[in-house]
Order: sequence, then C-alpha cells, then structure tokens
Amino acid sequence: MEINKEFAKLSLPNQEPMTLPVITDTMGGRSIDIRSLRKDTGFITYDPGFVNTGSCTSSICYIDGEQGVLRYRGYDIEDLVEHCDFVEVAYLLVKGELPNVKERKRYADLLNNESLLHYDMQTFFRQYPAEAHPMSILAAMSVSLSAFYPEMDDIDPEAQIDFAVTRLISKIRTITAFTYRHMKGEDFVNPSYKYSYCENFLNMMFKSPVIEYVIDPLHVKALNQLLILHADHEQNCSTTAVRLIGSAEANLYASVSAGICALWGPKHGGANQAVIEMLHQAHIEKQSVKEMVEMAKDKRNPYLLMGFGHRVYKTFDPRAKIAKSLCKAVITRNGHSDPLLDMAMELEEVALSDDYFKERNLYPNVDFYTGLIFRTLGIPTNMFTCMFAIGRLPGWIAHWLEWKKDPYQKIGRPRQVYDGPQGRTVKTISER
Ligand code: ACO
Repeated sequence: MEINKEFAKLSLPNQEPMTLPVITDTMGGRSIDIRSLRKDTGFITYDPGFVNTGSCTSSICYIDGEQGVLRYRGYDIEDLVEHCDFVEVAYLLVKGELPNVKERKRYADLLNNESLLHYDMQTFFRQYPAEAHPMSILAAMSVSLSAFYPEMDDIDPEAQIDFAVTRLISKIRTITAFTYRHMKGEDFVNPSYKYSYCENFLNMMFKSPVIEYVIDPLHVKALNQLLILHADHEQNCSTTAVRLIGSAEANLYASVSAGICALWGPKHGGANQAVIEMLHQAHIEKQSVKEMVEMAKDKRNPYLLMGFGHRVYKTFDPRAKIAKSLCKAVITRNGHSDPLLDMAMELEEVALSDDYFKERNLYPNVDFYTGLIFRTLGIPTNMFTCMFAIGRLPGWIAHWLEWKKDPYQKIGRPRQVYDGPQGRTVKTISER
C-alpha cells in the first residue's frame, strides 16, 4: 500500500481547498484518505450502504467486480476449489498460508478434538420449537459458546488462537447438524474421529439407526467445494457486522453470532433459501420464466429475481459459474433431473438477454445455484443459510483477527446526517 504519492483536492464552501492523500492498494485500486476530514473541516461524508467507503485495509480477500475475479489470500477461487478441501482453505484464510502436510494434520486433529458439544448445551436444543428457524438456533448457540468456553474473553492470541478458531469451526458444524436432528425429532449423532470435516457433517445429519447411511464421495466433494465458495467475500454485510461487533472488543463468539444474524437476511445469505422458494412457487403455479422476469422488472411489484444482482459484481459472479457446473454434475448424475434446475437455467438465459438486466449488470450470484445443490444433498431449504454460515465462518474469524491486529482501527461508529426537528420544548401532557 502506498500513501502520499498523489493527492486529491477538495473544494469546500467558504473554506480553503483541502488536499487529501490518495492511497494506492496492492492491485492498483485508489482511495482518498478522509480520516482528517471532519477534524480539519467540520464536514462528514454521506454514503448510505457504505457504497464508496473503505472501512479498513485488508489482505484476506480480493474481488474485481468488473472482471469477475475472487481471490483468497492471492489464490483464485477456481484454483482453491480444484485443489484444496475446506479445512485447508479455512487454514489459509485464518493463518494467511496454505498448510503443509504436518500443519494440515495438526489442524484436522484440533478440529476433531473440539468437535463435541458440551452436554448441557445439548439440552438447549430440546427447548426450541421444532419449527424454529435454524438460523435463530445457530445464532443463539454461537453466542452461548462464550458461556461454556469463557476463556475466549481474555484469549492470548498467539498461544490460544488455534484452539479457539478450531473450536468454533468444528462446533458450528456440530450445532447445525444437531439443529437438524432436533427439527426431525431424532437423537443426535456425535462426530467421529474416523471422518473428515465434511464427512462428519453429513454423517451427523443423516446417519440413521434404521436405514444404512453410506457417505457419498460426490456429496463430500460438493460440500467441500460449496463451503470453499462461501468462505470469504471481503467487507460484505455479515463480515462488516462481525468487524463492527469485534470493534467494541466483544468476544469472537458474540461477534460471529452477529454475523450469523446479518447473514440470515434475504438480501444477503438468506437469498439461497429465497431462490428455491421462488423457483418452487413458480413451478407449482406453472409460471413461465418470462412471467417471472416481467414481474421482477415491474417497479410497482416488490418481486425480485432472487439470486440475481450483486453490490460488487457487475459481471458473472465467479462463484455462480462454479456452482452451476457443480450443480449440474451433482443433480444429473446417473441420468437424474430436477425441474427446478431446468427452470433456473432457463431463467438465467432469459434474464441475461433482457435489456433491464443487461443495463443494470444483473447476473446470477452465488446463491442462484447453491440452493439446488444443498437440496440434492438432502439439506432442508430452511437450513441453506446455516450451510452458508458454516462456509463463511473462517472468513469472519480471519477478519475479526485482522481487525484486532490493525493499529489504525477504532471502535466502529459512523456519523449521521440529522434529518429531525430542531430543539423543541416539552408541553405538559394535558397541553399536548
Ligand atoms: N431483480 C430485479 N431487479 C433487481 C434485482 C433483482 N434481483 N437486483 C437489483 N435490481 C435492480 C434494482 O431494482 C435497481 O433498479 P433501478 O436502478 O431501476 O432502481 C438496480 O437493479 C440496482 O439494484 P440495487 O438494489 O440498487 O443494487 P444493490 O447493490 O443495492 O443491491 C442486491 C444488491 C441486494 C444483491 C440486489 O441485487 C438484490 O436484492 N438481489 C436479490 C437478492 C439476492 O440475490 N441477494 C444475494 C446477494 S449475494 C450475497 O449476499 C451472498
């Protein structure tokens, strides 16, 4: 990062023009450093949705939204999906480098050692209504970990971090599987040292005492790839939530719990559930994809094409491309088909040739095809966003840790443009 080689000049009413340093990042992107703006001029900036605001420097994830490039720690997402499993990518995000054989083994051992859930926490599940949304349980259980493993509050980052991180990455998977078993009214299946991270998850979800459950290697591969696709995406809504909560020096579990809540929203990670619901609804009502596209274009109608559009990508989301080919491989194996996949592909084709979508650069995002894969793995629709959360967790942790080490960070606290009444005087209640 280079600072102070260039300057931007800002003309302000009734003030001398101000020069502001320009920061050039390692990929050549340029930002205006406004840190002294309010102190020097009294002005603040107005930027709803932080569309133009860089809140931090970060070396975890790089996105080029115009070219459709996504990299974790400098590696292309396509390369990582092809050559790594989720545990290696989690290690990469959190620690900055891919693990060697010894480091990989140690991490896998830690994940295994940390995979059980405290017995008293297991009793919590029974108190939730079976129809509770799994994201509400996941968020509550994540923050509850701080009650059961409180040493996180005064963690020594260097000595303890691997334990804390693997504990969280391991337990979130156990919590998600237990949530599913509770929804089904079935006994929990504990994790086993015999299985890899993704095998363990599938086994905890689907092992049955009455029907033999054989872990499908294609499902394991698909799950690894899906989790990698979701593992980080720089300063998105949930990661920003994690950083913001972390900036108040709340513990890692509490910060991650906030990220889970943010992810739940249908404009963010909740979109994968919304996509399937949209396709399912259209299938039942025998809506054509042309009708769906017309509804999405109608500004009087709140209907949107879920799984389309992205704040950063103005071309194909690279994750959507990978998810689409994975989706086809998983669904069409052995000559199987899924009418919702056929509908999704037709919808993509029709929308991408429509002027409304072309003019606004609206392309399928990561959520458009991933739900169809989760569905084929047997994961219920209302748990898709939990799957997203398992994948995103290493990214959240990496950002939380990065924030802690960043000497320029402060507690997050934006300003506002006040739009309310000026000073008023309270009348007595009888006068109002
Ligand atoms: N269907 C129809 N129109 C859309 C869609 C869509 N899915 N997405 C955006 N538009 C339109 C908007 O109405 C707007 O039109 P206008 O310029 O005529 O007013 C224009 O495209 C720009 O959209 P914005 O909402 O301003 O873009 P923003 O960057 O704020 O929002 C978002 C991005 C939230 C992803 C939006 O595209 C959306 O709601 N998509 C559907 C939900 C979704 O798939 N979310 C998952 C995102 S990926 C993720 O978080 C993991």
